[in-house]
Amino acid sequence: MQIRLECPEDTDTIRSLTTAAFKDMLHSSQTEAAIIEALRKAGVLTVSLVAIMDGEIVGHVAFSPVKVSGTAKGWYGLGPVSIWPNQQRKGIGQALIRDGLDRLRRLNAQGCVVLGAPAYYSRFGFMSDPELRYGDVPPEYFQRLVFTAIAPKGEVAFHAGFDAT
Ligand SMILES: CC(C)(COP(=O)(O)OP(=O)(O)OC[C@H]1O[C@@H](n2cnc3c(N)ncnc32)[C@H](O)[C@@H]1OP(=O)(O)O)[C@@H](O)C(=O)NCCC(=O)NCCS
Repeated sequence: MQIRLECPEDTDTIRSLTTAAFKDMLHSSQTEAAIIEALRKAGVLTVSLVAIMDGEIVGHVAFSPVKVSGTAKGWYGLGPVSIWPNQQRKGIGQALIRDGLDRLRRLNAQGCVVLGAPAYYSRFGFMSDPELRYGDVPPEYFQRLVFTAIAPKGEVAFHAGFDAT
């Protein structure tokens, strides 16, 4: 498997793949593909990676800046992340996420947040922190990974692209 940054020719596949991955997900807004396009249009897809197997895109992950109330800078949000349904649970998601987190570290990011299944994201070091909140989402579903010694406190806001419909 190869992992590389997205290029302009990938956008149609990323849209189809994201739509297919979230199609049957209970908690999905079904807007994930539109969110990626809004982030791209706004120029805030800081890290957007595709995984390639046998010459085909099999997965995608996006990271974009988030704001933390107070002074925290250099924080990012993980997601959406999508693997084609028939390629899931083969380690592709983990490889994409690990690669993306490494790239954020190399960009001197301070840390990353994610909204999602705690059991999945804890394997990368994400953990919930009662001092770092996201709206009224139950704390266990909102997790953070601190790259530096400083854990920020406050309310997190994703980019306006996440309001895309
Ligand atoms: C979630 C997703 C990105 C994971 O990628 P993947 O390549 O399928 O998963 P991986 O092979 O990297 O990891 C498999 C492991 O994750 C676990 N896992 C996968 N999806 C999970 C979920 N939603 N909740 C909890 N654990 C999950 C599997 O049980 C497996 O655990 P194990 O290693 O202990 O056996 C992928 O399944 C997907 O695209 N799902 C639909 C879209 C989605 O839910 N995106 C994330 C929204 S937060």
